[in-house]
Amino acid sequence: MRVLGIESSCDETGVAIYDTEAGLLGQALYSQVEMHAKYGGVVPELASRDHVQRVLPLVRQVLEEAETRPEQLDGVAYTAGPGLAGALLVGAGVARSLAFGWGIPAVEVHHMEGHLLAPLLEERAPQFPFVALLVSGGHTLLLDARSLGDYSILGESVDDAAGEAFDKAAKMMGLGYPGGPRIAALAEQGTPGRFRFPRPMTDRPGLDMSFSGLKTFTLNTIHDLGGKEALSEQDRADIALAFEEASVDTLIIKCRRAMEQTGYKQLVMAGGVSANRSLRARLGEQMKKRGVELFYPAPQYCTDNGAMIAFAGALRMQAGESAELPIKVRPRWPL
Ligand code: KG4
Ligand code: ZN
Repeated sequence: MRVLGIESSCDETGVAIYDTEAGLLGQALYSQVEMHAKYGGVVPELASRDHVQRVLPLVRQVLEEAETRPEQLDGVAYTAGPGLAGALLVGAGVARSLAFGWGIPAVEVHHMEGHLLAPLLEERAPQFPFVALLVSGGHTLLLDARSLGDYSILGESVDDAAGEAFDKAAKMMGLGYPGGPRIAALAEQGTPGRFRFPRPMTDRPGLDMSFSGLKTFTLNTIHDLGGKEALSEQDRADIALAFEEASVDTLIIKCRRAMEQTGYKQLVMAGGVSANRSLRARLGEQMKKRGVELFYPAPQYCTDNGAMIAFAGALRMQAGESAELPIKVRPRWPL
């Protein structure tokens, strides 16, 4: 089964072709990050317009790269939600039109299921059941993933998503958008122990998380140092390190609990924040001590991409699913 996948839920236009026998045949990604950077975050209307311009050329490029003619495709998968409504509609409209024109089924993919399944694209792939930690700019979820499509939420952020907190903290320090990679890079120069941020909601039982307190703590620390303008490069690096350590510790504590609660021996991590090197290394170490294997995607599949959508669509189609007319998107869509 060969499936074309289209991702357009936020600020990346991603297209890919996945073949259940041959694997990933081609993929292309256009990131709008630079366009949004000057506004300090994603501007939804600009995102939609840009997707409109990018998506068809990317589809052509990927068909060529994958040496695939439309007749060789069995379906078109697209991110139907959650995400920005206008941005989702671009991908949905194009995917459904192509599928209709080519006389093949279209299949809706849940963006977070795309992230969740991305680690299965790797050579060393996890097997169901496993615990999944999904950490992106829009979501922070711990899931019990029993089998394809059978997921239940063990815990989630009660306020900001982890990535969102990275982005907001970075903005407070004047680091620009997206903040996650910038904080991570700066943290490498940070002085350990200069600041200590709290580990929110870790002193209470349960698997829910909170990240907005870290943002407030960042703001107060900046204020105590005389405001954003007064920060030296070292101050920024020290705050970045304290912020990253607190976020990573919080995620590790919750993951440890989730593994204890389920008794599973595999932990899968995905979503933009899972690209964080400190999180990968420290969570991996902690899990190893407990006999738990940690899986995560290659960095390019941690953040939004078309490959995860083509892959999730192919698995869904194999399971006998396809979308009915008319075109709909779900800006809010529980997993
Ligand atoms: O999964 P993703 O590309 O988009 C959403 O579905 O939200 O995740 C983007 C998020 C952003 O908040 C970004 O700052 C964060 O992932 N991120 C990181 C790193 N790389 C991306 N956060 C921490 N460390 C990183 N290295
Ligand atoms: Zn995402």
